[in-house]
Amino acid sequence: MRVMFIGDVVGALGRKTLEEYVPKLKKKFRPQVTICNGENAASGRGITGKIYKKFLQDGVDVVTLGNHTWDNRDIFEFIGDAKKMIRPANFPEGTPGMGMVFVKVNQLELAVINLQARTFMVDIDDPFKKIDELLAIAQARTPLIFVDFHGETTSEKQAMGWYLDGRVSAVVGTHTHVQTNDARILPKGTAYLTDAGMTGPYDGILGMKREPIIEKFITALPQRFEVVESGRTILSGCIVEINEKTGHATLIQPIQISDDRPFDE
Ligand SMILES: [Fe+2]
Ligand SMILES: [Fe+2]
Repeated sequence: MRVMFIGDVVGALGRKTLEEYVPKLKKKFRPQVTICNGENAASGRGITGKIYKKFLQDGVDVVTLGNHTWDNRDIFEFIGDAKKMIRPANFPEGTPGMGMVFVKVNQLELAVINLQARTFMVDIDDPFKKIDELLAIAQARTPLIFVDFHGETTSEKQAMGWYLDGRVSAVVGTHTHVQTNDARILPKGTAYLTDAGMTGPYDGILGMKREPIIEKFITALPQRFEVVESGRTILSGCIVEINEKTGHATLIQPIQISDDRPFDE
């Protein structure tokens, strides 16, 4: 089974980039499942019901989220009905939404799990403990398991990768908006990438306008951060190929499309 993952889609430029390239990438790589992280899809903060539906129309099968899940109040209106959208599974008990979803592909199923790290982030439930609980459920149904681990630090993400090596098909990180150059298959068969990177404005700072952010670093005064709305874009993600019998990955290939790295049909 081939899975395509697209990292944090930021604002309207990110959505436009996804709309443009998902069909081209699907034609090129022929993934059976396409996943995107949509935590910054609405003006850099959160996601709306309209955007969620548009992602599905554009060819996305599952939308994952992260620490920006609740930033757009619209989320509470539709999260209960959004069967193809997951938020970090280790959010506290009773939080709306779900953290794992199963996608059917012919006779097979892919479990997609969203988790959030804790280092330099809000203090939520233990993601390591949570994934053990979820794997007990997922592995009873399928060996094909994809984890989006939304986290700030490379160390916590590597720890999760090694913790899950051989138990899931892939651990792909999100949240930093910068793609790391460390895609590999761990010894027991788990595809690993510390961060998939972002999809959206290429000339901002993590997708946001540069000036207020530079100003904040210089003055330490509060600033209003706004998403970049025009200009060059980047798409970041990866392709993972999984052995359907063992659930082990056989390939992980990062994707980046920008002016510097033009799309190659
Ligand atoms: Fe993000
Ligand atoms: Fe995030």
